[in-house]
Amino acid sequence: MANFSNMVRCVFLLTTLFVPIILGSFIEKPGPRYPPTKGEVWPKPQNQVKIGIRMAFEMEQFQFKIVGNNSPLIDEAIERYSFILSLQSGRKHQRKPSNRRMKNERRTRLADDDLVMKVLNINMTGQDEAWPSLQMDESYWLNIDDVTGNLISASPWGILRGLETFSQAIYRGSPLSKDLFINQTLIYDFPRFPHRGLLLDTSRHYTSVTKIIKMLDGMAYNKLNVFHWHIVDDQSFPYVSAKFPTMSQLGSFTPDLIYTPADVQRIIQYARRRGIRVMPEYDTPGHTRSWGVAYPSLLTQCYTDDKPNGDYGPMNPANQDLYPFMKDLLTEIVDVFPDKYVHLGGDEVEFDCWKSNPEINAYMAAMNITTFTGLEEVYIQKIVDMVRDLGAYSLVWQEVFLNGVKLPPGTVVHAWTGNQQILMYNITSKGFPALLSTCWYLDHLSNGGDWQKFYNCDPHNFPGNEEQKKLVMGGEACMWGEVIDDNNVLQRIFPRVSATAEKLWSAAEVNDMEEARFRLEEHYCRMNKRGIPAQPPSGPGFCV
Ligand SMILES: *[C@@H]1O[C@H](CO)[C@@H](O)[C@H](O)[C@H]1NC(C)=O
Ligand SMILES: *[C@@H]1O[C@H](CO)[C@@H](O)[C@H](O)[C@H]1NC(C)=O
Ligand SMILES: *[C@@H]1O[C@H](CO)[C@@H](O)[C@H](O)[C@H]1NC(C)=O
Ligand SMILES: *[C@@H]1O[C@H](CO)[C@@H](O)[C@H](O)[C@H]1NC(C)=O
Repeated sequence: MANFSNMVRCVFLLTTLFVPIILGSFIEKPGPRYPPTKGEVWPKPQNQVKIGIRMAFEMEQFQFKIVGNNSPLIDEAIERYSFILSLQSGRKHQRKPSNRRMKNERRTRLADDDLVMKVLNINMTGQDEAWPSLQMDESYWLNIDDVTGNLISASPWGILRGLETFSQAIYRGSPLSKDLFINQTLIYDFPRFPHRGLLLDTSRHYTSVTKIIKMLDGMAYNKLNVFHWHIVDDQSFPYVSAKFPTMSQLGSFTPDLIYTPADVQRIIQYARRRGIRVMPEYDTPGHTRSWGVAYPSLLTQCYTDDKPNGDYGPMNPANQDLYPFMKDLLTEIVDVFPDKYVHLGGDEVEFDCWKSNPEINAYMAAMNITTFTGLEEVYIQKIVDMVRDLGAYSLVWQEVFLNGVKLPPGTVVHAWTGNQQILMYNITSKGFPALLSTCWYLDHLSNGGDWQKFYNCDPHNFPGNEEQKKLVMGGEACMWGEVIDDNNVLQRIFPRVSATAEKLWSAAEVNDMEEARFRLEEHYCRMNKRGIPAQPPSGPGFCV
């Protein structure tokens, strides 16, 4: 067995080493290696019928028309997509063209194309909603089989996703021409998983609000719907708390590398308008060194030779003042962030410091706690209960589950390392909802075009029954902050996260990398056009 698995490993290594060389030994031709497609949608829709008729598209002759229920979300989205479509043609968008001009334009266009797209009816059949949620309905019908098209969805979120699809279906006839086209098509689309996230760590480096806003734009272009904001960690505490303002005054890198309440609200609202939930993470009891700058007593003092050595470890569960503090902070967080889910972290808790501390040992003896995982359990359980009492749900990193902490039903377990199959099997066999990130670490770089390894990962790739598969809520790509800042954060995320986005939205059968390459090439150019500095995904080529 050992020999066999070594052999497998060896073949794997050889393949990874030689694939670039094999790619590099292509017989090169002039021009792009993977010419972009024209009007293909990313992520690929669940159902699409192509009719094979091309229509011309002119912003001046086109209008969005609301025929169903209305929503401020839809009004704003129409503004946005009108702007995006005008960017696409490179021509200036005018909202209300004169009839005369329309007729003239029309005559010239009709010379080379019989059909010119005129109207997209937007038909929201259900009630308006204000906030995106795990349960939101993102399904939509997009019927473009005539010069008047129809976009139908029960909810504003489906309309938002359908508008994104519509905007992607419009393409330039050729790189040098400004003429736009849309092919007739029928689409019925919905996401495979309801939780399609992107984690951004703003503690290891500060990311400006401007870049976060751009990132949210990019998420919407990929139909991602959860911004997991890993907002604080050991290195800095940029979140400005109304109740505990000294946390950021002392715990941020500098007093201006912070997120004020106004910044946080701006980000939440900007995301909401794009159907993106903002789920904050306040990781405890580990990863909290920056908390202790303002409040050292929250943390455990580490001891050497029976004396404090000046270092601090995880939070100090023996300090009974910790719990009222956490309750006040969590009350604020649940109030500031409207999403129903709060990520409580719980990863990588350092037990050595707890072990060295006499106060912790005395507390454990008094409470009959015999192991450090037992101590972690006591702490986490209190925090999870607090969140539940505040009417919210918790997510925790996998360690909390692996350490055997008793979790209330419905607590989401977030897998990030180790054997994906075994772990996802174990989490779901215990009846817990699961979220996958193991294969989607954006900070792990390999050779060029490394979106492919993200594309090769499926959240249902584990042995388990139907019930277990249903417990998989989706996944998240993780952009940890050690080596990213405003200079490279967007380039590193896009378009690699697009691979994750397609895995989480499209049907399980959509896994043909060779087909995806050409679509991703178009999608990367599309993101560039819209101001997202996405990197080239697959080799030589160009965007207009
Ligand atoms: C649209 O039609 C053009 C011209 O027939 C074709 O080249 C292109 O691949 C089509 N795109 C899609 C998405 O069907
Ligand atoms: C909107 O869509 C519904 C469901 O398909 C349909 O019954 C209704 O007639 C449509 N409304 C308009 C104004 O087209
Ligand atoms: C710890 O165990 C002892 C002996 O079983 C018991 O008397 C005591 O009440 C326990 N203390 C706590 C806090 O559970
Ligand atoms: C999965 O569960 C089995 C059986 O309880 C256990 O032996 C194993 O260590 C667990 N592994 C992981 C990665 O969760």
